Amino acid sequence: MRCGPLTEGRSWLSIRLCRVQPRHRTECSAGYNAVLPTLDHTCALRFEAVTQSFPKPSGEAHTALEGVNLDAAAGTFLSVVGPSGCGKSTLLNIAAGLLQPTSGAVSVFGQRLDGVNRRASYMFQQDALLPWKTVRENVALGLTFRGQSAAESNQLAGEWVRRVGLQGFGDSYPAQLSGGMRKRAAMAQSWIVDPDIVLMDEPFAALDVHTRLRMENEILDLWTGSGKTVLFITHDLEEAIGLSDEVAVLSVGPASRIIARHKVDLPRPRNLIDIRTESGFQELYKTIWSGLRQEVLRSYEQD
Ligand SMILES: Nc1ncnc2c1ncn2[C@@H]1O[C@H](COP(=O)(O)OP(=O)(O)OP(=O)(O)O)[C@@H](O)[C@H]1O
Ligand SMILES: [Mg+2]
Repeated sequence: MRCGPLTEGRSWLSIRLCRVQPRHRTECSAGYNAVLPTLDHTCALRFEAVTQSFPKPSGEAHTALEGVNLDAAAGTFLSVVGPSGCGKSTLLNIAAGLLQPTSGAVSVFGQRLDGVNRRASYMFQQDALLPWKTVRENVALGLTFRGQSAAESNQLAGEWVRRVGLQGFGDSYPAQLSGGMRKRAAMAQSWIVDPDIVLMDEPFAALDVHTRLRMENEILDLWTGSGKTVLFITHDLEEAIGLSDEVAVLSVGPASRIIARHKVDLPRPRNLIDIRTESGFQELYKTIWSGLRQEVLRSYEQD
């Protein structure tokens, strides 16, 4: 992937991790289906030769990721798929700056990442709602952390509660919500602070298929026109294709690396309910799955 010139954008903030930064957009032309590190600095997020090892109880090192090259142009939706345990969450933790890679580098809008990625928000697989706070208070958390006044935070949180379809539930507690509603609250929590980059780790994996489809549509609604860069982790190749501009495939671990990148040039806006039956979608699915399938089979052999 090669990144194009910067254009002007707004200022964004992001929950837990972020502070105010000037925001830039970029366009990205792609050299897909190949892993090519890029030299331009206009990408929102770039991994260069990133290797991550962890110590095993035996004292040996376990290499989760090895030599990962990946970049996401600003404003694009990039999904990463790969077999279980291949290092997807590790990749996201590195992007969030929660993990310092053993070697290699990550850059964020051309700046080397050193510490927490303050231009990103992180939506975890299990939502991080505080059970003793109401939905509105949970949604407002990021604003509170950055010192916004209680009145302003409360008002904006109320708007986001409505925006994600939770009107009437602002004063409810997380335990009083369904799984899908909690995901909505978590989504509002991570988007209210207006991050440049949204990191999402299998956010809808625990939902039933219909709720999941609704949530996928809602994430597209939020993202469309926002200019935000999304790095989305999923096991579900259909979900990845439906949402994304590009799907990257991680090989089975240990020492996982990006083995393919596929441009998804299906037109937008997308109707996720019907898109799976379209021939372009099915062709792409077959192409990506032919590579992913081998990695999944190799992961079975390891079990
Ligand atoms: N903090 C850690 N210490 C030691 N090993 C770790 C640590 N974090 C991850 N690993 C190992 O790194 C590998 C990749 O883990 P990771 O959680 O990134 O995989 P994943 O692709 O997200 O898996 P899943 O699809 O099941 O969510 C695994 O073998 C895991 O055991
Ligand atoms: Mg994971």
